[in-house]
Amino acid sequence: MRIVVLISGRGSNLQAILAAQLPAQIVAVISNKPDATGLQVAQAAGIATQALAHTTFASRAEFDKAMIQIIDGYQPDLVVLAGYMRILTDEFVNHYQGRLLNIHPSLLPSYAGLNTHQRALDDGVKVHGCTVHFVTPTLDHGPIIIQAAVPVLNNDNADSLSERVLCMEHQIYPTAIHWFIGGRIQLAADGKVNLLNNNGSEQTVFYTEP
Ligand code: GRF
Repeated sequence: MRIVVLISGRGSNLQAILAAQLPAQIVAVISNKPDATGLQVAQAAGIATQALAHTTFASRAEFDKAMIQIIDGYQPDLVVLAGYMRILTDEFVNHYQGRLLNIHPSLLPSYAGLNTHQRALDDGVKVHGCTVHFVTPTLDHGPIIIQAAVPVLNNDNADSLSERVLCMEHQIYPTAIHWFIGGRIQLAADGKVNLLNNNGSEQTVFYTEP
């Protein structure tokens, strides 16, 4: 299985995916920001990298078209968004339907979008977390594959909470990708995700902070 990872920044999720030594080939890491430090993470691991600055394109549609061309050059079976901070066109999403994953730092459908940790603190929620989901045209609303819950502590600020959520991101993203590689995730006709265990029966998944 061939995987292309898209990033925009530091690449800690990329690093966790690499460290998991999954039975697949990460064939390229592509960034919309040429200075993303995650590109160095990929280079250090001997993975091909490319940067395509979205700022050099007149429209989102043109940028996504160019991205598709670059990505498809690597013939991926799976495209993994790992801190890829771009709103995607429907064309892009539909092109990779069923083989496009994202990680989001909240328990979706709560807190789609940005500043999730501060918003969770402002609302006083007691449980926060992260979600890996299939990507659909509605931002941060695709079918959920796996979630991890993190308790919100009395003395948490956005930084401390984000750090603890990130630890869980680094566990659930490699897990979800491993399931995808093993053919264990099925996108059902009703738009939900079935997770099959080795016997082919459905399995419930709920991770909490260790
Ligand atoms: C993560 O919190 C991810 O959930 C969000 O952006 C952040 C990326 O971090 N989409 P990194 O680049 O993987 O370190």
